[in-house]
Amino acid sequence: MRQAGRHLSEYRRIRQKHDILTICKTPELCAEVSSLPVDVLGVDAAIIFADIMLPLESMGVRFEIKDGVGPLIHTPMRDLKSVMTLQDFHPKADAPFVLDAISLTKKRLDGRVPLIGFAGAPFTIASYLIEGRSTRDFIKTKILMYQDQKTWKLLMDKLVNAMSVYLRAQIYAGVDAVQLFDSWVGCLSPTDYRQFVLPYSRRLLDQLKNSGVPRIHFGTGTASLLEEMKAAGGDVFSIDWRIPIDQAWQRLGDDVALQGNLDPVVLLAGTKTIQAQTTEILKRTSGRQGHIFNLGHGMHPDTPTDRVIDLVKFIHNNTKKDRT
Ligand code: CP3
Repeated sequence: MRQAGRHLSEYRRIRQKHDILTICKTPELCAEVSSLPVDVLGVDAAIIFADIMLPLESMGVRFEIKDGVGPLIHTPMRDLKSVMTLQDFHPKADAPFVLDAISLTKKRLDGRVPLIGFAGAPFTIASYLIEGRSTRDFIKTKILMYQDQKTWKLLMDKLVNAMSVYLRAQIYAGVDAVQLFDSWVGCLSPTDYRQFVLPYSRRLLDQLKNSGVPRIHFGTGTASLLEEMKAAGGDVFSIDWRIPIDQAWQRLGDDVALQGNLDPVVLLAGTKTIQAQTTEILKRTSGRQGHIFNLGHGMHPDTPTDRVIDLVKFIHNNTKKDRT
């Protein structure tokens, strides 16, 4: 995720001329940026360049994406009245540029690697709408969730509907897999996840069950939530580095694929550390079907591109016999 991001000089050149939302809304630029990691790094999949906040613009939310900060919501939503103003999302009419960018990127990739579509999960999007920006403690989100269940339910219902039609439109436009980003759900206890998140994520993931593409369920800090996330659904689960991958797999079961686990900060350390940690992950997953090597979260902007290229080569060289 955010793999095209900040560390690639080609990306930086494009970003000097255009802001993120402009790139997202210009299919030619979007297709170029989405293909960059495949062309430059040699990774085995591309993810469409967009942002989890993108659909909210046409739902009536005014926001910006600030460099080094992330999304900033102009008027955070903290009561029933404001949540009621959230409009329905119609991907074809409201975000045709995403769907056009998907077809253009597919053409550009020309079958070399699959293309992943994505959306933010209801909890993570709700947290931005309520807090107004990234946060460490999610105080306002949790207070609303605990104290105003009518507003919480309406907000989560609206987000399930919007992200469900959005992901289905992306599948129709040609993506080969969809990823649901619940980046911040790790701030919840298992009990709270079961009550306030699981029913919504499950409904959303269920609606994509027979869509013909794998559903990747992503979270960070989720070592205590794996069973709950599995109950919510998904064909592939993303984990971060806070749990050994074989332990996570044992808990999730053999019927799912796993991705993630390398701490992106490791890429800022030397080659020795990178290779040692990579070897450890490969050892813990060897003999298992359905392992997708990946980072546990987004890449840091000052990651040296050469280290990433070397890592991709290292993984390819060490897994050749497993990949047919
Ligand atoms: O790999 C890719 O480049 C695909 C495109 C992508 C972006 N955002 C573009 C972007 C994807 C998959 C996302 C998802 C996203 N956006 C998530 C879920 C994944 C995750 O990382 O947890 C979240 C939480 C957001 C919200 C958001 N947007 C944050 C937290 C930030 C980063 C702020 C910072 O600088 O640390 C953004 C900005 C953003 N969106 C960038 C990119 C490439 C940053 C780089 C830039 O400024 O060009």
